[in-house]
Amino acid sequence: MMCGWESLFVWHSLFMTKPVVLIAEELSPATVEALGPDFEIVNVDGTDRPALLSALGSADAILVRSATQVDAEAIAAAPQLKVVARAGVGLDNVDIKAATAAGVMVVNAPTSNVISAAELAIGHIFSLARFIPDANASLKNGEWKRSKYTGVELYEKTIAIVGLGRIGTLVAQRLANFGANLIGYDPYVTPARAEQIGVKLASLEEVMQQADFITIHIPKTPETTGLIGAKEFAMAKENLRIVNCSRGGIIDEAALYDALSSKKIAGAGLDVFVNEPPKDSPLLTLDNIVVTPHLGASTDEAQEKAGISVAKSVRLALAGDLVPDAVNVAGGNIDASVKPGISLMERMGQVLFGLSGGNASAIEVEVRGEIAAHDVSVLKLAGLKGFFQNAVTEQVSYVNAPLMAEQRGIEVRLSTDANSDEYRNVTTIKAILADGSVASVSGTVIGPKHLQKIVAINGYQVELAMAEHFVYMLYTDRPGIVAIYGKAFADKGINIAAMQIAREQKGGKALSVITVDSKVSDEVLEQVRVAIEAEKLLAIDVNL
Ligand code: 3PG
Repeated sequence: MMCGWESLFVWHSLFMTKPVVLIAEELSPATVEALGPDFEIVNVDGTDRPALLSALGSADAILVRSATQVDAEAIAAAPQLKVVARAGVGLDNVDIKAATAAGVMVVNAPTSNVISAAELAIGHIFSLARFIPDANASLKNGEWKRSKYTGVELYEKTIAIVGLGRIGTLVAQRLANFGANLIGYDPYVTPARAEQIGVKLASLEEVMQQADFITIHIPKTPETTGLIGAKEFAMAKENLRIVNCSRGGIIDEAALYDALSSKKIAGAGLDVFVNEPPKDSPLLTLDNIVVTPHLGASTDEAQEKAGISVAKSVRLALAGDLVPDAVNVAGGNIDASVKPGISLMERMGQVLFGLSGGNASAIEVEVRGEIAAHDVSVLKLAGLKGFFQNAVTEQVSYVNAPLMAEQRGIEVRLSTDANSDEYRNVTTIKAILADGSVASVSGTVIGPKHLQKIVAINGYQVELAMAEHFVYMLYTDRPGIVAIYGKAFADKGINIAAMQIAREQKGGKALSVITVDSKVSDEVLEQVRVAIEAEKLLAIDVNL
């Protein structure tokens, strides 16, 4: 049995073509190094829309920062795309919904640049407090103006941190040493957690009324867009200096312009803008603002971390594996004991589709045995992926398989039980059909070579190695049936590899499941059905 990488390699050597990884923005050289030699790297300027859309036509993966818009149009232009990798944190330039619907995994590098972002915010606070950029420009201009640039200390000032997630926490920890009074606004954080990092929680109003400095560390969402606008600035102290190194638009830019130009507040430090670059923004004409061109993540360290992190994720995703940093698929961290069951489950999902005709109202996955002690939700995903693989023409992945079930009104359930009588681990996937009947397949993985076996079909005990072609025959138990279908397949040159016969009772319903070396045509199937007077006869194909 081949693992993802082996099959990728065989595919590559057969067709002399490597998966295409599109790099749409400047990334650390460590990124290409970490990707390794298995991919064709194509560089494109992600802000050049026609070039991007055309390059996406053959891309298996795309790597971006924040300037490339990976929207629904871009995803539709990429029929082979399997993963969008954001070498950074913010995902507001990626249409996650469109990617999910197309089965495309979205990954980011959630911790790569948090330290750099926190440090830049603190840099902006000091720039505003001590006029560092202006004093630098003035001196270089031949001036020596010491009193003009008299600043303020942070000591005993009230600094408000809006957003106490990863970056806000790092900012709080660093500011703790300056003897400032730290307050914070974050509706998702408990007072106890805030206290742990030395911050007293406050409402947004209290923040606006009390703060000498505000620094913002929240993602941009419909709720946070314009969070700080004219109403909020109206409550502010005159000496307020406000910093935004998160996303443009969280501070309403027009309201900020009014507050700064009328000296309602003392200053602002911005690393981010509604439009980037902020061409012709009136904000840039003000002398009480310090601006940087979205440099929060622009350090050697952050870029190296982000590049290596997404390169690893892209390698995993293109090998068909799940990725811990995927944002639109569950089950990323998988215990080693669970992994061998993933491919078995995907194939069992295909067998189940063949048995049930795909007409399910519910799909149940049962996991029994030692692996039930771990998170096995990935086995549910794998079963669904397999089930839909032969059902639809579009790409099916761990990403969109749950969505496909939801869109078809198929309820999906997972149950686990640490006890298993016959096998160390055994998994079952069942389809509850529209008429209330049940189709099911059980399987297990055996030994160090992870041999995949089917151990029950529709409740009948069998023992068959996983194979590419199965034929399932249900008929009335009587002598001579094996000889009849054996001859019928032999006459058509179809070789039987393995065979299992089971029955309810003598003369009752009987089942033959065989694996054959080649695909069985509908015509042969029909001949056999007539010859053995089968109640049901199905050819089931599995992609190995
Ligand atoms: C992020 O969301 O990770 C930061 O804003 C950095 O964006 P960038 O990768 O475009 O610099």
